Amino acid sequence: MPESRLLIISHAPSPNTRALRDALILGAQSQAGETLELSCMSPFDASSEDVLKAQGLILGTTENFGYMAGASKDFFDRCYYDLLDQTAALPYAVYIRAGLDGTGATNAINNICNGLKWKRVQAPLVLQGKYQRSFEPQCEALGAAMAAGLSAGIF
Ligand SMILES: Cc1cc2nc3c(=O)[nH]c(=O)nc-3n(C[C@H](O)[C@H](O)[C@H](O)COP(=O)(O)O)c2cc1C
Repeated sequence: MPESRLLIISHAPSPNTRALRDALILGAQSQAGETLELSCMSPFDASSEDVLKAQGLILGTTENFGYMAGASKDFFDRCYYDLLDQTAALPYAVYIRAGLDGTGATNAINNICNGLKWKRVQAPLVLQGKYQRSFEPQCEALGAAMAAGLSAGIF
């Protein structure tokens, strides 16, 4: 019987970003056990109710035009005020796929999540530059670490 839920909100508009998302899910599944339920969705489909039901969150986005993807921004635009004061200390982690840089998306997400008073459980994973297959085990490790931490109740 699941006791907690890990929500993955991943914007994955390309084969590479879908491979990153799938690796993340694989890692999370490897550590979820029977007590942690996993849920993965596009930011366009994610609602504040989905976040309110979760005990942990991983956000994945691309960097576009020096900022988080519009899809990810849409999620925050729709949900920010519903989540403010309701989700303080929510454990979260972020991964960003950035063909060039990643700084703008990282800073924007940090600022918004600080505003929500969420608890970042590890430094943002920025997968920068030309795509490398080695990004995938990094995402897998992130998913595993988050799921293991939530399952063990250490966040
Ligand atoms: C419209 C557009 C704007 C982009 N702007 C940025 C940017 O500002 N910084 C950056 O690092 N990458 C930028 N990129 C590259 C994307 O981050 C990258 O293509 C995306 O993460 C998907 O990764 P992939 O090409 O490996 O599939 C942009 C891509 C597109 C399509």
